[in-house]
Order: sequence, then C-alpha cells, then structure tokens
Amino acid sequence: MTLSLIELVKNMPKAELHIHIEGSLEPELIFALAQRNGVELNYPSIEALRAAYAFTNLQSFLDIYYAGASVLLTEQDFYDMTRAYLERAHADNILHTELFFDPQTHTARGVEFGVVVNGIQRALRDAHAEWGMTGGLIMCFLRHLSEEEAFLTLEQALPYREHILGIGLDSSERGHPPEKFARVFARCKELGFHLVAHAGEEGPPAYIETALDLLQVERIDHGVRCTDDPVLMQRLALQAIPLTVCPLSNIKLCVFETMAQHNILTLLDAGLVVTVNSDDPAYFGGYMNDNLVALVKALPVQRHHARQLARNSFNAAFIDHNLKQKYLAQVDAFFAQ
Ligand code: HPA
Ligand code: ZN
Repeated sequence: MTLSLIELVKNMPKAELHIHIEGSLEPELIFALAQRNGVELNYPSIEALRAAYAFTNLQSFLDIYYAGASVLLTEQDFYDMTRAYLERAHADNILHTELFFDPQTHTARGVEFGVVVNGIQRALRDAHAEWGMTGGLIMCFLRHLSEEEAFLTLEQALPYREHILGIGLDSSERGHPPEKFARVFARCKELGFHLVAHAGEEGPPAYIETALDLLQVERIDHGVRCTDDPVLMQRLALQAIPLTVCPLSNIKLCVFETMAQHNILTLLDAGLVVTVNSDDPAYFGGYMNDNLVALVKALPVQRHHARQLARNSFNAAFIDHNLKQKYLAQVDAFFAQ
C-alpha cells in the first residue's frame, strides 16, 4: 500500500524539539483556568481572545502569549496544560518531545519554580508510563530580561536539575543579542546542561553565529534567516548544527509572507539538519502534523524530504545513542513499507 504524502508525514514516527509549553495553552483552557483560579482576563470571551491572534511580528505575539500564561497558578494547571499538549503530540505520532518552559514568566507573578517544573514533569512521566513517550524539559531564559535575572533563575533551577535537560533562550530577539547571556550560558555548560538558543528568527544571521561561538549552543531554534549568509549556511551544514524550524509560526509572525515562500526545502536540500516543529501551536494555527501538512500543500515536498525530516528530528534530539538508534530504526522501518 502506498500512502499519500500527507498520510505519510502524519503517520511517520517523529520527535518534536521546539515547543513552548505555555504556547500550547488553547483559549478554551485559558478561560477554564482563569475561572478556576479567579484570574481576570482582558478578553470578554474565547472568541474575542482567538480574534486577537492576528500578529504582525514576534513582539505582537509575545504580548498576548504572556497574558495567556497569567492564568497558570497551581501545579495542576501546569499538569493540565502539559497533558493536553502530550495527548495532541501522541495523536501526531510524536515519540519524543523536548519542551521549552519560561520559568521567569511565572516566578515574576509569585508562582514557585517547583510548582512549574513538578506539574510539567508529572505529565511527562505519565506520558512515558502510558505510551512510552520520552521527553525532557528545556528551561529558557527570557532575553528581554537581564543577565542577572537569568543567573537568579539558574540558581532556582538547581534543586530540579535532574528534571532539566537543557537551557534555551527565547522572547524578543531584536536588540537582545546572544552575547548578553554569554556568561550565564558558560555557567550552564559547566553544569552539564545541553544548550540551545532562538536565533535568526527575526534577528540577523549574525545572531546565529554568536549563539554558536559565544553561547556554544548545540542547536539553533528557528535559524531560517541563515539563508541571508551563504558562508554561515555552509558552516551549519558542515558542522551538522540542527535548526528547529517552525513553519506555521514563521507565517503567523510574518517571517515569510506565504508558505510557498518558506525556505525550508532550500535548507534541507543544502544538507542542513532541519527539523519541523510547532513552536506555539495554540497561537499559530496548528500542532506538529498541521505544520507538516501545510508544508506538503505549499511546497514540492518529496518522500525523501519527509524521511529526512523524521530522521533529523531524532538525530537532533538530546537522547542517548541506543534510544536514538532505536528511533531511527523505527523511521527506516516505516519508510521501508
Ligand atoms: N520566539 C521567541 N520567543 C518565543 C517564541 C518564539 O517563537 N515562542 C515563545 N517564546
Ligand atoms: Zn520558539
């Protein structure tokens, strides 16, 4: 039986490596948690909130995203949010997922660090017990805040170290270059964390280079603007630096005008370790498979591209050698059908 390309990308085994768990909070859950916690929202209805999701750039999204996260107060809230995402991920044949979380968005409102991590972690543990899904947490520093605040956050994270796989950098990119966080990333590296950073989403290709050279990150989140710099593109291919690309996000935040103009196939055909991810699925119009289907519909995606994307997602994951080989064998078996 030959599957259509759409069925193929939906059914193939895959990993997700760029999902902000707070960005999986659907308007329905935002309203339910607001009611449960007695939090006032500036939107009269679910429909009014959803109607506000007409973004013009990264900052216009971030303002609404941080407002949405204000309903999260208890460990159960973080559990419920994460559980809802993991059910969607499981339905999309995601076998492994690495979740970003933004502790500063919560600790600034008086929510304890442990409440955040314990709630998310418990949902990951349940998903592993029920479906064998693997995953981990990547703690992001908000780059619009100071280096000092990042160091304080790292301090708060240390008691939960065993639950944190890596460190990332997100929020407003322009005007907040990687070098602002060079020292705190150096400390995180000493502590043995994996390192990633958002770079080259809205910011220039130079931020991709400084994320690699000054922060020593292992993957670049987004990175799509690397095509502005052919030398950098060659370097990314040669050093096999994974890019966690988020197609629907790029359209919603106007990084590209239309999906037909997205450069993901250029990157893939140039040999870069590109992966597909959902970023903030509740805000950008879709989860993992919605992103893959949108690509198939807009671009001349071939079967070999799909297989490469699935293989890249596991190759780029922060998992041990044996698990990686097991997942890659599952991809190969799937495509051998
Ligand atoms: N970019 C930067 N910060 C973010 C994003 C993003 O796409 N999503 C959530 N925080
Ligand atoms: Zn992101």
